[in-house]
Amino acid sequence: MKLAEARELVQLRPPLLRPVERVLARCHSVEDLRQAARRKLPRAVFDYVDGGADAEHTVLANQAGFHGWAFQPRALRDVSAPDLSVELFGRSLAAPLGLAPTGYTRMMHPSGEPAVAEATANMALPYCLSTVGTTSIEDLAATGHPRLWFQLYVLKDRGHTRSLVERAAAAGYEALEVSVDTAVPGNRARDERNGLTIPPQLSARTILDIGAHPGYWTSMLRSPLLSFANLGAGPDGAGRTVAHVGVRFDPSVDWDDLDRLRAWWRGPLLLKGPVSPADAVRAVAAGVDGIHLSNHGGRQLDRTVATIDMVRPVRDALGDKATIVVDSGVRHGADIAVALARGADMCMVGRAYLYGLAAAGTAGARLAVDVLVAQFRRTLQLLGVTSVPELRQHADTLVVRRPTAEVGMAPWGQAR
Ligand SMILES: Cc1cc2nc3c(=O)[nH]c(=O)nc-3n(C[C@H](O)[C@H](O)[C@H](O)COP(=O)(O)O)c2cc1C
Repeated sequence: MKLAEARELVQLRPPLLRPVERVLARCHSVEDLRQAARRKLPRAVFDYVDGGADAEHTVLANQAGFHGWAFQPRALRDVSAPDLSVELFGRSLAAPLGLAPTGYTRMMHPSGEPAVAEATANMALPYCLSTVGTTSIEDLAATGHPRLWFQLYVLKDRGHTRSLVERAAAAGYEALEVSVDTAVPGNRARDERNGLTIPPQLSARTILDIGAHPGYWTSMLRSPLLSFANLGAGPDGAGRTVAHVGVRFDPSVDWDDLDRLRAWWRGPLLLKGPVSPADAVRAVAAGVDGIHLSNHGGRQLDRTVATIDMVRPVRDALGDKATIVVDSGVRHGADIAVALARGADMCMVGRAYLYGLAAAGTAGARLAVDVLVAQFRRTLQLLGVTSVPELRQHADTLVVRRPTAEVGMAPWGQAR
């Protein structure tokens, strides 16, 4: 028997030689990418991405919240060509998915934000750059990504804040979102325990870690020093560490600041945080176009209500006067279907793409997006719906509350 025939018989595939291909060949879900990231990253860096505030009740509650909804499919519908598209801020979007802002992205992989932009540009999914990103507003725009958003932390220096807004406008960013859940940084217990410094420093602990994660450290040491590309040095000349950057955020931000921002930014403006129905109504009256319901992925106020539970009350309060974006806990395309059925227009993910990025750069981030979109498509098909409007039209019969006893999660998501 010839080698080719033997290979055919036992379905042998040629070995995957490139490390990225080897890693990705084993990843079929966001959880697989999470495990790949765990293997690739030093513990303190993985924990920075994966962890949340205090006891991480909200991190667990976010996912349990999505699992608290069950599907009740329709039978015998032609679902051969589902249309996943939605309309967002007057433009068509191929699937209701965007990428949430994350700080210090190059700490996960040296290719950082441009790699994420590249991974999403073909589908033109919105990608939001963080104020504490590690790529400048202009450099990210130069990637040619067609739907970039900018996330703003209001700084004590309002002149600097305004210049960030103006730079985003000049660089053609589509939308501005203002985070309103970060008056002070959340208490990240894992980071405290790990003694994480941003950027990671060569301490005795990190030197020991080089043996365990040589690939990570080699690529980090070869690439330019991490910096907050949009903030520059602070007034004291020090701008690189997270401690220095935190003191530049302003905890006194209030509704008057929102009025100023509305005057500075002409495009779509969103508030990002666990915005209550009453605050959402007030924000829309102040000229805000969208509410990005988020509890920062459980990284700010622990015991905040799961975002999926905020969607319908905010939708009921706003009607169709504003766009609603939802993040925190999205790990599967089925979560997107649940969020849309509850009244959202689009979901965003943070950790899901960061796990992919950490595991395999651009290809990993793209895989995260592809997996989520494919899962969303299959969910619609198995539900027996062919489009997002149809999902919305029959939302309350297709997506129903799962009896608590079945969820397998006690209050606050502690597994039983
Ligand atoms: C590592 C990391 C860094 C983040 N940095 C920011 C940030 O700079 N600004 C911001 O508004 N949100 C930030 N977030 C929150 C995300 O925008 C998003 O709300 C959250 O990740 C959604 O939850 P998920 O990770 O469960 O998808 C960060 C999240 C992570 C995981």
